[in-house]
Amino acid sequence: KQDYWIAPSILAADFARLGEEAAAVLDAGADVIHFDVMDNHYVPNLTIGPMVCQALRNYGITAPIDVHLMVSPVDALIDSFAKAGASMITFHPDASIHVDRSLQLIRDAGCQAGLVLNPATSPDVLEYVMDKLDMILLMSVNPGFGGQKFIPGTLKKVEQVRRLIDASGRAIRLEVDGGISEQNIADVAAAGADTFVAGSAIYGKPDYRAVIDQMRAALAS
Ligand code: DX5
Ligand code: ZN
Repeated sequence: KQDYWIAPSILAADFARLGEEAAAVLDAGADVIHFDVMDNHYVPNLTIGPMVCQALRNYGITAPIDVHLMVSPVDALIDSFAKAGASMITFHPDASIHVDRSLQLIRDAGCQAGLVLNPATSPDVLEYVMDKLDMILLMSVNPGFGGQKFIPGTLKKVEQVRRLIDASGRAIRLEVDGGISEQNIADVAAAGADTFVAGSAIYGKPDYRAVIDQMRAALAS
């Protein structure tokens, strides 16, 4: 049976009550916390940094924290996020001049490492760094904002990257981010994803457990 992970994006949570909001989705059955870092440079929005990651750890969140860096430059933030309790750190290859070095810095800091591909970015960039990847994150919206519509062309890339992962023989997680809901999660899984980010689809509803249950039911069908 497939080991699917549901990763709520706290970008859509109530930031004034972030600890409770992270704990609530985990209580409701989520597997990891997706943590969106935006810098008003690589993307046109500004969110949260290492101090907030540390604050979640201090609050008592023990689940994996999946830090999605939408920042440029990348390297200066790696150690601070590792020290602040990040479990995985992913970044956009077009935001780092030396992609292999950034991946190595993440691994040396003791975190799992991943690359994030925007909707128009080719998977070619993965070829020479597969052995340094624990995760590949495919964007199904253009990064910068929650609540956007899923771009259907992503499914073809999910299939393509699934083939690359299988051919590598490595246990690399394939995560998809943007516009995922209980309506389309089964299609994303059928294309080959195993890790699903959902922001507004979960935090936009009053009952987090009900949505997560619906997502698990869709994945099981
Ligand atoms: C977008 C972020 C996503 C976003 C997903 O740049 O990387 O993680 O929060 O939100 P929804 O699920 O609302 O599209
Ligand atoms: Zn994200």
